[in-house]
Amino acid sequence: MAVSTALKNKRRLDVNGMDVQMQTQIVHPGGFTGGVVRVPGDKSISHRTALLAGISSGTSEIQGFLQAEDCLNTLKAMEAFGARAWFDDDGVLSIQGTGGKMIEPVGPLDVGNSGTGMRLLAGLCAGAPITVTLTGDESLQSRPMRRIQEPLELMGAKVELTPEGTVPMTIHGGGLRGIEYRLPTASAQVKSCCILAGLYAEGRTTVREPIPTRDHTERMLRAVGAPIRVEGEYISVEGFGQRGPRFMARPYMVPGDFSSAAYWLAAAAAMPGVSVTVESVGLNLRRTALLDVLRRMGAKVEIVRTSAPTDPEVYGTVTVIGADLTGTRVGGAEIPNLIDELPLVAVLGALARGQTEIRDAEELRVKESDRVAVMVENLRNLGAEVEERPDGMVVTGPARITPAKSVRSYGDHRVAMSMSILSIFATEPVCIGNVACVNTSYPEFWEQLSNLGVKVE
Ligand code: S3P
Repeated sequence: MAVSTALKNKRRLDVNGMDVQMQTQIVHPGGFTGGVVRVPGDKSISHRTALLAGISSGTSEIQGFLQAEDCLNTLKAMEAFGARAWFDDDGVLSIQGTGGKMIEPVGPLDVGNSGTGMRLLAGLCAGAPITVTLTGDESLQSRPMRRIQEPLELMGAKVELTPEGTVPMTIHGGGLRGIEYRLPTASAQVKSCCILAGLYAEGRTTVREPIPTRDHTERMLRAVGAPIRVEGEYISVEGFGQRGPRFMARPYMVPGDFSSAAYWLAAAAAMPGVSVTVESVGLNLRRTALLDVLRRMGAKVEIVRTSAPTDPEVYGTVTVIGADLTGTRVGGAEIPNLIDELPLVAVLGALARGQTEIRDAEELRVKESDRVAVMVENLRNLGAEVEERPDGMVVTGPARITPAKSVRSYGDHRVAMSMSILSIFATEPVCIGNVACVNTSYPEFWEQLSNLGVKVE
């Protein structure tokens, strides 16, 4: 199946097989049985396989690639740069790479909703001697891009943005030289952008992280034999110049996405005695801080690693057994390791006894929506007691979850899914608006929610 067909299919998928643009879902309370689940492939890793296989020599086979809008858009962009990609009937993706070269696409490339797609692709484009315009949907058009413009221009690319520092972004790439760059914010997207551009630079590029963030790019580059070194907070890559690296095609295995598993683990955590087991899920420590939070709140967590020591990523089985939860505090170096799970932590805060405090999470305000403001509004509309802070929030529970108003997702997939989990604990059915956004990362979400016993219509 061609990538464009896969993308069209995902856009239209919902529980009833209807067109989902602007659709609402009603989630009924109760019913959640727990059980054993598998979740679709990791979004971060899927983006990176599309990029790396896309610039390799030969055809790579990828098991478990996430067929959701974000990653399919990245794949489509790689096709515009000269790669070829197709899915077989079992969902295995083949990518015939460009051998390092990037051809100049005709017209602007729209990467949809994905900040990861945008920032990682920008890194590659900056390295090649081409001019490319990248754009995205309304949400992506409001997200900050100066954070990648600065390092890419220091390396020698020219990057044009709107006066607000947003996309559309036009990159005039090529002729890069390596730099030493200290990231002003902890961001794996910006780090990866610099590393990918660094592959096309003359000399060495070194990035220094203020706090460790997810390291999928580093692990994957090591696996393809790239000259990458990690020493404490410093990550260095030796450039190949603008002809690009000569990586060989290889097989990739994408584990299940921990951030998707998190919804089911959180639901179980807040139900005493109920358990959820997720198999073949990514367990990279830079992604799984939610498990520490669940333990601190009182849930039981069991982990069995099934990956081999030689696998680039750690994966395995995780089980969470629910309990009466108590509030906790999250902040500091823990934040990047559960950044995408923070809306769920807020939900758990509403269900737990006492205060749950989220601090040092100002980055949440520049995700697919302002997740601090949007979660505060939605939690309040469902009866929770929440105080908004510039860098997070304080939720006091347990709340009686009464849907005074419907939930507004603001087009943010993680808000829609997190609020669906809270709806299981409500006194009445909850209407969640504009849920088409869930297709960006987890098209099977509603089906799996219903398989776990929750009535969804
Ligand atoms: C991602 C990094 C995170 C995360 C995003 C995926 C990645 O963003 O929120 O969903 O794949 O590198 P930041 O690195 O900007 O915090």
